[in-house]
Amino acid sequence: MKEQLFEQLDFVENPVYERIIDDLLQQKYAIVENFFDVSEVEELRQSLRDIYEADSFKKAAIGNKFNEEIDKTIRGDFIKWINEAENRKEEARFFSKTNDLVAYLNRTCFLGIIQKEFHYAVYPKGTFYRRHLDTFQNDSRRKLSLVCYLNDDSWEASNGGELILYLPTEKGEEQLKILPQAGKMVIFESQVLEHEVKPVLASERLSITGWLKTR
Ligand code: OGA
Ligand code: MN
Repeated sequence: MKEQLFEQLDFVENPVYERIIDDLLQQKYAIVENFFDVSEVEELRQSLRDIYEADSFKKAAIGNKFNEEIDKTIRGDFIKWINEAENRKEEARFFSKTNDLVAYLNRTCFLGIIQKEFHYAVYPKGTFYRRHLDTFQNDSRRKLSLVCYLNDDSWEASNGGELILYLPTEKGEEQLKILPQAGKMVIFESQVLEHEVKPVLASERLSITGWLKTR
C-alpha cells in the first residue's frame, strides 16, 4: 500500500536524504561529507571571493543589518546575504541541490519549510563565533540550520575554526567537533542545539550558512 502510494506520486527514495532524516530524528543533527562536489565548491568559493573583494562596505559590516553592532567578542565573521532571485550562475547548483533537499523534507517529513535564507561567511584568522543558539528574539521560524564549507584543499585540524555542537546527554553534555572541510554539509535543529565556531588559527574559513524556516 505504501509502495503503491509512492509509485503514484512518482516518489524516488534518496538514500542520502533518508540518512539525513534518520540522523536528524535520532540526534538532531546530520553531517554529510561531500554534499557538494569539488567543482561545486570551487564555483561557490569563487563567487564568494568575487563578492567579498568587490564589496568593501559589506566586508566591514558585521552581523546582520538589524543588529550590526553585535560585537566582536561574540562573533567576528563577515557575512553577505545571498539572494536566490539574483540567479548568479555560480549559485545555481547550490540552490538546485538545497531546493531539492527541502522538497524532499517537506514531502517525506511534512516539515512545512516555506522559506530559506542563506549567507556567505568569511572568518578571517583570529575570529570565532561564541556559543549560541540560532534563534533570534521573536523569531522562532528557523527550524533547521545548514552550514556548507567552502575552504580550499584540505582543512587541517591545526587551522582551528572547528564547529562545536553541544549535544545534551543524560549526564550533561557532550561536545562534537566538526572540521570545516570542503563540500561538507552540517544540518541541525536550530532551536535545539547550541553550537560554537572555535577561533580560526590559520588561513580564512569560508562557508555558506542558512536556515530553513517554517511559518
Ligand atoms: C552561524 C553558525 C557555524 C559554522 O552562522 O550561526 O553558527 O560552522 N555557523 O560556520
Ligand atoms: Mn549558529
